[in-house]
Amino acid sequence: MTKLNQLRFETRAIHAGQEPDPLTGAVVTPIVHASTFVQDGIGKNRGYLYARSANPTRLTVERCLADLEGAEMAFAFPTGLSAAATILEALDAGAHIVAHDDLYGGIYRLLNDVRPRSAGHKVTLVDFTDVDAVAAAVDDKTDLLWFETPSNPTLGIVDIAKIAQIAKGCRAISVCDNTFASPYLQRPIELGIDVVMHSATKFLSGHSDLLAGVVAVSATAPDGLCERIKLMQNATGAVLSAPDSSLLLRSIKTLPVRMDRHCQNASQIAEHLRENMDAYGLATVRYPGLPDNPGHAIAAKQMSGFGAIITLNVLGGLNRVEQVLKHCDLFHFAVSLGGVESLIQHPASLTHKTVPKDKRDAAGVTDDLIRLSVGIEDAGDLIADLQRAFHPV
Ligand SMILES: Cc1ncc(COP(=O)(O)O)c(C=O)c1O
Repeated sequence: MTKLNQLRFETRAIHAGQEPDPLTGAVVTPIVHASTFVQDGIGKNRGYLYARSANPTRLTVERCLADLEGAEMAFAFPTGLSAAATILEALDAGAHIVAHDDLYGGIYRLLNDVRPRSAGHKVTLVDFTDVDAVAAAVDDKTDLLWFETPSNPTLGIVDIAKIAQIAKGCRAISVCDNTFASPYLQRPIELGIDVVMHSATKFLSGHSDLLAGVVAVSATAPDGLCERIKLMQNATGAVLSAPDSSLLLRSIKTLPVRMDRHCQNASQIAEHLRENMDAYGLATVRYPGLPDNPGHAIAAKQMSGFGAIITLNVLGGLNRVEQVLKHCDLFHFAVSLGGVESLIQHPASLTHKTVPKDKRDAAGVTDDLIRLSVGIEDAGDLIADLQRAFHPV
């Protein structure tokens, strides 16, 4: 049998953690709906007791994800936010968290509105693209560092290896939200991060038909963290169902081909918009692959492709933003990202609505900002759609 860890990512995306079903020979992991499993005697079973603790279909996708992220173990959750909440549940009351000031709105709400009230967590927000600012914000009482890169929606690029070093220096747990890149483009654990989380609703699932979340824990994470997260998942009951685990497992098999096409399309569109900013009436075009984009050199160092997300600052205020959203056809006006179909959305009124306006503006999530999630359709058709919507002169 081929040693899996000698195989390339594309092969492991299809095979890691999976064997043909020993009972039937089915080449696809069966969906085991059972919530409970027969016990062979007291303390004796065939690996399963009750599906909240472990389910064979979920375990298969968890093993596959652990392999792809280079983690010791991975856990599959019903949403990205329940994955995030379970990581925070593993901290003690009163813990000090230093977090990126440019985070997905739902994580911001969890960190700033929910956990301080329910667990007395103290949260310091800082710009993680400024490594010196992060080093100045931590001390020996800091318990956890939390960031995402590229960040949602402004595509800030954080130097993952440097943040991992800062976390190790103050013995804090480091958490990287890897949703925008996926393990195909970026593997933070290989760069020294303790915990990777995903909204698997996005690229990992890839078809806008599934809500899911992932936590992957490094073998070098602080002692006991892996077991603690496992315990917290079981204690809070936040587990991905067997049918959804099967859907996620199937989606991951095409992650590399989808991501290659996402990246090709997005860079073609970003370059086109960047070259025609005046005609499109744009103040800025942000895409980590553009050579003049802030953080481009760091992105090139730690990512093998620049992803599918482009953000634009549109000239002409909110009225023009609304006109553009209305006139897109192939780009559907909808929240979320990472699906095979292209989406366009307005973070200030949707995904980041829960962030107070002054904080939003300070983080660059201004009213004139539009976010594109570039799908895997034909790039020429997508450009024609944007041309129609922006009415370039
Ligand atoms: C970067 C990021 N993290 C986490 C989440 C939350 O994930 P979910 O919607 O699956 O709960 C999202 C959702 O958009 C996201 O964009």
